Amino acid sequence: MHTPGVYLPKDIHFKLEDIPHHPEPLGVLVVNPAFFAIIDVKNPYMEGKEGHVNHQKVMEQWQALYDLYLKWVDEDELESLSELEGVTGCEDMVFCANQSLPWTKDGEKVVVLSNMRYPSRQKEVPAFEEFYTYLGYKIYKLNTTDLLEGNGDFIIHPGKNLFWAGYGHRTGLEGIKEAAGYLGATVIPLKLVSEYFYHLDTCFVPLSEDTVMLCEEAFDEESLSAIKKIFKNVIPIDRTEAVNTFCLNATGLRLKSGKKVAIIQRGSESTNKILRDNGYEVYEVETGEFMKSGGSVFCMKMMHF
Ligand code: ARG
Repeated sequence: MHTPGVYLPKDIHFKLEDIPHHPEPLGVLVVNPAFFAIIDVKNPYMEGKEGHVNHQKVMEQWQALYDLYLKWVDEDELESLSELEGVTGCEDMVFCANQSLPWTKDGEKVVVLSNMRYPSRQKEVPAFEEFYTYLGYKIYKLNTTDLLEGNGDFIIHPGKNLFWAGYGHRTGLEGIKEAAGYLGATVIPLKLVSEYFYHLDTCFVPLSEDTVMLCEEAFDEESLSAIKKIFKNVIPIDRTEAVNTFCLNATGLRLKSGKKVAIIQRGSESTNKILRDNGYEVYEVETGEFMKSGGSVFCMKMMHF
């Protein structure tokens, strides 16, 4: 019998088959970017971009993404689409993958709220607490002062009660350990070693139980070997391509009908081909205004139960 908990790369003696199945979330939450801005540098992509946001493009790009999710809700392929208003002074709140980590434990909806690295972003968290309270979630706040940035650093292994968790920039090992207990899941920490890949969702995209695409330079050697132990196919993506196009911030969704769709920033032909070869219908969108802030498709939504 496999016991859920945190397993460092050197402690992985289990097989993927040992981990129980877990349903994936089909509710989408987005945050309106009315207050989106770049006023300081929180990651290398933001350097020199302060004040350089075209607000009309911001709204258009965000709306196109919103409309895609709405279409799938209308087709009964996703369960729901919710929108939170932004908050004045919370210029990064549109990146709603970061403030929380929802899951189900023994059938109960649970969520771990984040300890965000930057004080301006910590102010975003209460609005999410309110949202999950409304949905009837059991809410966990961390006792540790260590960092945790939600779904930005915790990526679901498709179909399994298993998370891959990036640490080193926005999330710490203590944060991961405490969160894992609340989630009742197996969690494998991965050390992120490059500033450009400051969240796991910038460099790691699982495509199925067996296959993941990633940027190898983002991880230390031990972490890479852990990934290779569990995934049968590991598809490397060129570092320059990942940095320039945010292709590894794509979102893959397995819809209610079983159809697989992927949303991705426009312009990464090789990644689009990999997605198609793995059974995904690819939807390209433009997120250029948000890339100036270091985020793209994956960061701009939260999947919840
Ligand atoms: N400007 C934001 C920050 O640095 C971008 C967050 C992007 N989110 C993500 N999940 N990668 O905090």
